[in-house]
Amino acid sequence: MSIHKDIKRVTTHVLQEMKRNGEKISMLTAYDYSMAKIVDEAGTDVILVGDSASNVMAGHETTLPITLDQMIYHASSVIRAIKRSLVVVDLPFGHYQGDSKEALRSSIRIMKEAEAHAVKLEGGKEVLESIQRILTAGIPVMGHLGLTPQSIYKFGTYTVRAKEEEEAKILIEDAKLLQEAGCFALVLEKVPADLAKEVASSIEIPVIGIGAGGGVDGQVLVLHDMLGITQQFSPRFLRRYHNLHQEILKACTHYIKDVKSSDFPNENEQY
Ligand code: KIV
Repeated sequence: MSIHKDIKRVTTHVLQEMKRNGEKISMLTAYDYSMAKIVDEAGTDVILVGDSASNVMAGHETTLPITLDQMIYHASSVIRAIKRSLVVVDLPFGHYQGDSKEALRSSIRIMKEAEAHAVKLEGGKEVLESIQRILTAGIPVMGHLGLTPQSIYKFGTYTVRAKEEEEAKILIEDAKLLQEAGCFALVLEKVPADLAKEVASSIEIPVIGIGAGGGVDGQVLVLHDMLGITQQFSPRFLRRYHNLHQEILKACTHYIKDVKSSDFPNENEQY
């Protein structure tokens, strides 16, 4: 059910109202104009210009190599396409950790050059100062806890986080700290469903899950994964809504066959 389908623009306040009203929030990634146009037209509440662009757009193994300039390029392409969605842009690795002034400068560049609506960054207590400084400029911040892919070399694996009591306790504390600092929402990635539900009910800001079960306030998926464009990535939480890899492959091989056999172009397809 979509209570807010008719609203002209999704804002951070609308998302918080959705949580209060029990309406689930839909979020998808997009990195380019053409896809963002479709995702926005579908009525997606939030478009995340994720640093997963590093994987699905650039073919890197991790999210670490993507640069701030590249994120701004992706974000400005998305912004030109949208009419309704709130556009949140990931701060890339190395542009906010351990230096809150750098965090503010990077966020201002994203807001000014891409004309984005908000930024997202990974981590809890350790990035609190960065979050606080970004907020002083009036830039909305979305947090990201649980599996934080920019820390993959610390974790060593992409498996479920916070299964042990100690890590779960820290995660709940971090979620509360992010809320107190002024984050308008947070992403919770790959944690046990019961823990995610507990986090969502212990804070007032929306919790948007990925691999975090149904007890949270919304869901996010990487667009290329849910459309079945990517093939190798198959975690349990991923529901594929299409097999676009197969569809595109079919269309391309058909085209090649038509070119080789001189079937394309025909008389109606020339001047
Ligand atoms: O970069 C990204 O796409 C993300 C989502 C997985 C939440 O951070």
